Order: sequence, then structure tokens, then C-alpha cells
Amino acid sequence: MEFPVLTVNPAKVETACFVVPVFKEGDLLPAAAKLDDASERLIGQLIERGDFDPALGNVQLIPFAPGLAAERLLLVGLGDRAKCNEGNFRKALDATFPVLARLPVDEAVVAFGDVPVPERDAAWKARMIAEATLRAMYRFDTFKSEPAPAPRLERLGLLVSDNAESPTSEQGARIGNALGHGINYARTLGNLPGNVCTPRYLADQAVQLGRDSEGSLSVDILDEEALEALGARTLLSVGRGSAEPSRLIVMHYRGAESDDEAPHVLVGKGITFDTGGISLKPGADMDEMKFDMCGAASVFGTMKAVLDIKPKLNVIGIVAAAENMPDGHATKPGDIIKTLKGLTVEVLNTDAEGRLALCDALTYAERFEPASVVDIATLTGACVIALGAHATGLFSNDDDLALSLLDAGETAWDRAWHMPLWDEYQSQLDSNFADMANIGGRPAGSITAACYLSRFADTYPWAHLDIAGTAWLSGKQKGASGRPVGLLTQYLLDREEDARDIAE
Ligand code: BES
Ligand code: MN
Ligand code: ZN
Repeated sequence: MEFPVLTVNPAKVETACFVVPVFKEGDLLPAAAKLDDASERLIGQLIERGDFDPALGNVQLIPFAPGLAAERLLLVGLGDRAKCNEGNFRKALDATFPVLARLPVDEAVVAFGDVPVPERDAAWKARMIAEATLRAMYRFDTFKSEPAPAPRLERLGLLVSDNAESPTSEQGARIGNALGHGINYARTLGNLPGNVCTPRYLADQAVQLGRDSEGSLSVDILDEEALEALGARTLLSVGRGSAEPSRLIVMHYRGAESDDEAPHVLVGKGITFDTGGISLKPGADMDEMKFDMCGAASVFGTMKAVLDIKPKLNVIGIVAAAENMPDGHATKPGDIIKTLKGLTVEVLNTDAEGRLALCDALTYAERFEPASVVDIATLTGACVIALGAHATGLFSNDDDLALSLLDAGETAWDRAWHMPLWDEYQSQLDSNFADMANIGGRPAGSITAACYLSRFADTYPWAHLDIAGTAWLSGKQKGASGRPVGLLTQYLLDREEDARDIAE
């Protein structure tokens, strides 16, 4: 996709489709007003007659545009002007582009740059537009014998009213383009079935990213032999009952001036299928446990965006990949395992496997002397109950880090909510036989899961993102969302900004 920035008279823009956002109040934004003037008040009349209702997310095609150089108009309702914010802007975009992608056009022009979103500049809007376009054009039909026709759209012109906003809009569109590709890559990895997307498949993806990176990404894959030699037995315990061997995948991006600059580390849960193991899950919707590697997918997606944007930062992505299956070798309830850190764990429930895989990866991260470590995991059903599908659960041992992540989530409109990680919850993990149990009972299930991880993240600023509710959609729209690639990428870009501020 190309996103050229245009600063021309809207009435004279020769395009197959001009996308015009309109507030409910009917007072037209600059580009819409110019189109209206040149078309004998086409837009104003449609609204006055009640033929177009500019309610938020209402999208209507006007197949002819007399007096204009555009062949069609696509009117988009923005709802109330007073309620215009990031969320409504994004809702309007997410209503528009799926419609646009189904039109028989290979290029279009949008006037979303006119929309006044409080506290957000032209770069932010351009970036949101590019990202939303790519998300809307995403298809996952590799396994369909007769895929639906692919969207024809190849070029989306971003109209800006003020010349001064051109360079920043171009820059924003470039970032949005990188983000869109990173998000869609994460969606594809998530959507792939468990019989394709195995720990070894994920390892191959990392190798491929390394090859495509022209030297900026080095990749290290630890196989079961290497993990055994290292002592990562808790990670290995998860894959014991599977025919698919486990992997620890390490991707090292060197973008900072100096290799010595402390890296930011992302750690993804990569359970390529979670049956629950011997603590077998019930059958209903178990297929959705192919999405249990969406934390890992978000690390891959973010790495892809980073390789495209090339921030001056060091970033390390670690993925703990295993398949959780029951067989004669599988870990059993009551088994005691020694972690890489040396602490022992009583596995009371083999379905609480994510934390077992992640704890060794968190210990592994210590060797990089990181500036920060963020793990991303579809960790608990309890988080889905607490926050539903809208907010990612955020836990941290460092309030500054937590604030940075919350803020990045707001900017990327990929939001998280800060949850408590108080000491009072820790005793729920007490075990009579080992240093700790891997479950803490039903109350506060997502918090005790985070408490378990916190014991392995005590040597660096650390945060945990529980994406069990946000990583995929269920029901008719079943599919991976690509979250939280937006949040993570923004977090990293903000760290680059911080480093620049300190240098100046
Ligand atoms: N992958 C699941 C968490 C999950 C469940 C995510 C449903 C999305 C939807 C995780 O491995 C798991 O099974 N967690 C258990 C923990 C429990 C045994 C303490 C859970 O949440 O039930
Ligand atoms: Mn599980
Ligand atoms: Zn799981």
C-alpha cells in the first residue's frame, strides 16, 4: 500500500472515491465544505433531507459526484463533534476501510486529516489511517479452496489542508504502514492452526526475520538439548507430553549507537496449543487454544515493525515455545520441577502452563542486563472475566514502567488497565512441598499468576501484559486481533524518544 500525502483543492482531486468525514451537527469540515460548494451543496442536502445520517460509524456510498473531479463519495459519520476523541476517530476509520476495501477501486483519497482530535496531531492521524487501512485489507484465506476476491485498493491519498502538515503526515503514514504490517503478521501467526504453527515453526519464523533483516537482527534458537544443558526444566516440563519439541527463541535487534546500551526485552508466551495437559480442558471451544501463542505472535509482530521503522534502540525478543499435551511423559499434578532460577515449583495444575514456560524465559532475560522487560501472555481466563475484550491487564513491579505502557496504549489506542500486584496476594502461592505452587486458587486468578511471574523478575524493571481477553475475537468474527503490537511498538518508539531527550 502507498499513502501519498496531498494538499490540493478537494473539488479538483481526480480519484475513484473521495472519503468525506462528517460530524452529526452538519457543519462541514474544510475539505467537505469545498466539495459541497463545488457540487451544488450535495453533501449538505443529503444530510438535510435525512438521506445520510452522520451518526458515528455510519458509512454511505454516493455513487456519483456531479461537479467534482471524484467519481464517487464515501460519506462517513463522525457522531457528535463534542465527543470526538481517539476512540471515536478510530471507530470511524474501522467502519470506513472494510467498506472501501470491497469497492471496485484501486485508489481513493481520504479527508480524515481534517478531523479535530483533541491533543493528537497530523502525524498521529496519518498513522492511525494507514494502520486501519492495512488491518481492514487483511485476509486469512490460505486454507480456503476458493478464496474471496482480494481487495483491489493499492493507493490511499491522505488529504491535508495545511501544507505544513505534509512532512509529519508522511512520517506518520510510514509508521502506520509498519505497524499495520506488524499487526497483520501477528494475526497470521495467531490464526494459523496448531498443526502448522508449532514451536519449530515459530523458530523458523525468527530465522526468516533474521535473514530478511540484512544483519540488524541476530537469532539464537535453543533446542531441547540446549535447554536441558541450561537447566530450563520448567519450560521443558510444559512440552514433555507433546511430540513437538519445545524451543526458546531469542531475537536480538541492535539499533542503538552502542551495543552496550541496555536493551528493552519483550518475552512472549508461545504455547502453540494448550489442551491443559493432564489437567485437561473441557472440549467446548478448545480450538481457540491455538491462540495461546498470541503473546509470542505480538513479539514477532513488534519485531517486524521495529525492523521496518529502525529505531535507535536495542531490543530483544524472547519466545518461550511449547505445546501443552497429555501423554505418558506429561507433567502430572503434584510433580515438582526446579526452575532455571533454582526455585522449586509444585505443579498443582498442568493447565497453568504459561507461567511455567515464562518463568525460565524471564530468568534467561537477566543475562542481557535489560533496561526493561515486558512479558506478553494469554495467561488467565480470570483476566477475561475481569476486563473482557477491551483492556489488556497490566501488572508491574515499577510504577514508571507501568505509566509508560499505559500511555503507549492510549497513543496507539491499544489500551491496558493497571492491576494490583500487592504482596498480600503472594501467600496464595504457598506450597507444602516446594518453594511455591503454580496456582493460587480461584480468587484474583490473574493477579496470582502475575505474582508467580514477579518472583522471577526481581532484578529488573518488569511488566506483565495479560492479553487473554484482547488477543483474539470469538464467535462469528473469530480471529487474532494483533494486539498488543500497537502498544508495544509505541512503547519502544517512546523509549527512543526518551533516549534522544537525554542526549540533547
Ligand atoms: N491459556 C490459558 C488461559 C486462557 C483461558 C486464555 C481462556 C484465554 C481464554 C491458560 O494456560 C490457562 O489455562 N489458565 C488457567 C489457569 C488456572 C488453571 C489457574 C485458567 O485461566 O483457567
Ligand atoms: Mn493452560
Ligand atoms: Zn495457556
